[in-house]
Amino acid sequence: MSKSSGTAIHTIDLIRKKRDRGTLTEDEIRYLVRGAASESTPSEQLAAWLMAAWLNGLERDEIRALTVAMRDSGERFDPRGLGKVAVDKHSTGGVGDKTSFLVAPIAAACGVAVPMISGRALGHTGGTLDKLEAIPGYRTALSLLEFENVLARCGCSIVSQTPALVPADRVLYALRDRTGTVESPGLICASILSKKLAAGLDALVLDVKTGSGAFLRKREDAEYLAALMVATAEAAGTRTVALMTDMSQPLGYAAGNWIELAESVDLLRGKRPEASEDLRELSLTLAGWMIHLGGKAETPETGYARAEAAITDGSALKAFLAMVEAQGGNPSVFDDPEFHQPRATRVVEAWEAGYIATMDTTMLGWAVQRTGAGREKAGEPVDPEAGIHFHARRGALVENGQPLATLYATNEAMLDEPEMLLKKAIVLAETKPEAVPLVSSVLTREKAEVFLAGAQR
Ligand code: URA
Repeated sequence: MSKSSGTAIHTIDLIRKKRDRGTLTEDEIRYLVRGAASESTPSEQLAAWLMAAWLNGLERDEIRALTVAMRDSGERFDPRGLGKVAVDKHSTGGVGDKTSFLVAPIAAACGVAVPMISGRALGHTGGTLDKLEAIPGYRTALSLLEFENVLARCGCSIVSQTPALVPADRVLYALRDRTGTVESPGLICASILSKKLAAGLDALVLDVKTGSGAFLRKREDAEYLAALMVATAEAAGTRTVALMTDMSQPLGYAAGNWIELAESVDLLRGKRPEASEDLRELSLTLAGWMIHLGGKAETPETGYARAEAAITDGSALKAFLAMVEAQGGNPSVFDDPEFHQPRATRVVEAWEAGYIATMDTTMLGWAVQRTGAGREKAGEPVDPEAGIHFHARRGALVENGQPLATLYATNEAMLDEPEMLLKKAIVLAETKPEAVPLVSSVLTREKAEVFLAGAQR
């Protein structure tokens, strides 16, 4: 029980209120979040409230209050001492999505601070931290002081969440996971944004995926979440845009841990393999927006040009390698062609001639996970050398016997299930599929408001 605004608050009343489709006040939401963060509210009460929120939905004001209360539920990073505008990017996750390794050093090289708090592999999607830990010595668990020091020296730092950051989300997310209440736009929005905004961001660029490998497969669901996140982050004082981007096939050619880093560093070195063009294009577009919102370019287009120049002049590569070294990693591994060579490889060939008509990218993500590159349970180790190198893209015309992908693992037996999944995930057909744009729309605050006003929820 708490006394707030002169009235006592009881958790049971908050459960009843949401059950009966009422709207919680800011004080009531703060009370609920405090109880979650301090673990003083019994989990059955929190779970009951979460289910009521899942079933009946949350109003915009409730979502904003929940986001802000969760953001403030623990320690926060204050980037003001860096003397730069702090901007980050968040992606809703996909297969082969490695844009963080490009956008963070590119934006840093253009004068923006990028305090990036990232996550681990989850389900069929890979994790930025797991990939970085393929670099010997790289430490992801920095204290906030160490985080600040790396940012001051390199302009960017990619780290894990500290235990004291957003403790309310740790409790609520674990409960949602166990009670079937993850898939709620308001709860997802508050969970993602609270962790991002706890880094004290001035601006945020969201990469919201749609298509067969996306967390939310239906475009209208993904767009609604994007609009909600833009409007909520803006209401919490952070300039935000969302780009709706394609995940109907893996991004770039590599999916795994080390191979994703190797593909990213090749691009930072100015290489332009055809199979990485989508990754390069998306990274430059996202970085262009970050540089623009960070005040270092008049428009996202001039931000794009600055981002491209940071690759050409080597400054982005320099920022990336400096960050690796500052976080204890050995950057010389990027010069060693023998590093993390897989012990078992298998080429999967096309079983007939035809166009690659569809790729079930979620299934491809599970194939990557089954090579050992991902984990089944939280806390399990991942294999740095495992993964899949894709040789053909959606829409390509392939001959019978042409290599579609090479699988990497530590032993032959680990390759059987990924091969089976990969063959199920790829459909070959006689007709060429329609091309899907890489970036289908950009939601600014104004567009997000228009979208939300018209949305039936
Ligand atoms: N990722 C998060 O961090 N939270 C959610 O609720 C869903 C995805």
